[in-house]
Amino acid sequence: MTVDVVIVGCGGHGREVLTIVQAMTDAGRGAARVRGFVDDRPSERNLKLLQRADVPYLGRVDWLRAAPVDTHVLIGVGHPIVRQELGRRIDAHGLPAFSAVHPDATVGPDVVHGEGLVVFAGARVTTNVTLGRHVHLNQNCTVGHDTVVGDFVSVNPLAAVSGDCRLETAALVGTCASVLQGRQVGAGATVGASACVVHDVPPGVVVKGVPAR
Ligand SMILES: CC(C)(COP(=O)(O)OP(=O)(O)OC[C@H]1O[C@@H](n2cnc3c(N)ncnc32)[C@H](O)[C@@H]1OP(=O)(O)O)[C@@H](O)C(=O)NCCC(=O)NCCS
Repeated sequence: MTVDVVIVGCGGHGREVLTIVQAMTDAGRGAARVRGFVDDRPSERNLKLLQRADVPYLGRVDWLRAAPVDTHVLIGVGHPIVRQELGRRIDAHGLPAFSAVHPDATVGPDVVHGEGLVVFAGARVTTNVTLGRHVHLNQNCTVGHDTVVGDFVSVNPLAAVSGDCRLETAALVGTCASVLQGRQVGAGATVGASACVVHDVPPGVVVKGVPAR
């Protein structure tokens, strides 16, 4: 059965998410048809790029209110806090979420995850990892053994999250950052690009540099 998917957010991240769904279909990993994008404030540039991709813009996010009940939603927004807010709005419509895992990603057989997961090409998730709802693991990042990743977390390209870590709700690990084994990143915290987390990061804090402060 082909699943109808609507992607929320037609910016660069959302259009990358589209390519993941297309790659899954091309590889025979479940049949999904992207019906289109919803976005409250699409730019002219992004609307043109949707046309080029031959995928329609359907309207504002509230378009989902009247969507068929079997429409699956995929949030295509990279920032965890914005994604969390969209998640709240979309939950109110009661539609199921779709999970997209690129065929060139590795997710261990005992990894458990919530709905709305997005795993980009080259990402590696090893063993006994728990991923919450609407987690986005970007290109070529790694998530090590026994790590717990909360809802709406983003791990950006090339970031390395070691074993036994804990990333709380809506935390962001920036591009090329590393989180050493056993460390925690608090809810809503941001780890800057290329930072190295050697101490636990409190909730809501921004840290950067090596060691991250
Ligand atoms: C750390 C971060 C959150 C700071 O954002 P910000 O508060 O808007 O910071 P600003 O750009 O105003 O810069 C503030 C200062 O921090 C420095 N800075 C910014 N990011 C830094 C980083 N990653 N590492 C070290 N220093 C950094 C700036 O040079 C500036 O220093 P100055 O005051 O001496 O000039 C952000 O720069 C970052 O790294 N985000 C992650 C981005 C990412 O992963 N993008 C990939 C998307 S796929």
